[in-house]
Amino acid sequence: MPEILSISHHDVTGISSLAREIWFRQYQGILSNDQINYMLAQRYCPRVIDAQLDDEKIWWRKLVSDGGIIGFSCYMRTMHAAELKIDKLYIRHDHHRKGYGGMFINDAIKIMHRITCSTLILTVNKQNHSAIHAYQRYGFKIMCDSVVDIGSGFFMNDYLMVMTP
Ligand SMILES: CC(C)(COP(=O)(O)OP(=O)(O)OC[C@H]1O[C@@H](n2cnc3c(N)ncnc32)[C@H](O)[C@@H]1OP(=O)(O)O)[C@@H](O)C(=O)NCCC(=O)NCCS
Repeated sequence: MPEILSISHHDVTGISSLAREIWFRQYQGILSNDQINYMLAQRYCPRVIDAQLDDEKIWWRKLVSDGGIIGFSCYMRTMHAAELKIDKLYIRHDHHRKGYGGMFINDAIKIMHRITCSTLILTVNKQNHSAIHAYQRYGFKIMCDSVVDIGSGFFMNDYLMVMTP
């Protein structure tokens, strides 16, 4: 059975490559290639991940199966003391629909309780219908639009989803 573990500095290059592989598959037809490359550079370049591993308000997690990483997530505290944000949740496409997304949600809930937060939040692209469906199955509800200017003429056109487990 795959297990969820903390990401270490040794994992960073692999996570960066896995993010590229999953993003180009998931966001083709939703985001332009230019925006995908821009966001990957902003969020997944090894230097950025490496720095976040030392931040006590950020949890990078990996899903390991047969010694290989088949998915990852990242949770972070927000400016609101009661909130934990699932900032990233990505599973390789050949491992979808096996309950692994749900494992990460349970992992986030455990961390949330440990740090005495009460609400999980996330944002998801409005056209990412499969992920929205999964999040609704886990118990998240759409709260409102979240449209954010991320620079260089690019926008994130998302929904904010919330769950209070
Ligand atoms: C979204 C994601 C995290 C869900 O994880 P998963 O392990 O595939 O999903 P689970 O097995 O936990 O599915 C739980 C439920 O969600 C729903 N669901 C999951 N994937 C779905 C899909 N592609 N289409 C419709 N419903 C889906 C189903 O109801 C499913 O239950 P069921 O299989 O018993 O019917 C995963 O598919 C993923 O990594 N997607 C690509 C990256 C992505 O878009 N991430 C979200 C960024 S915000």
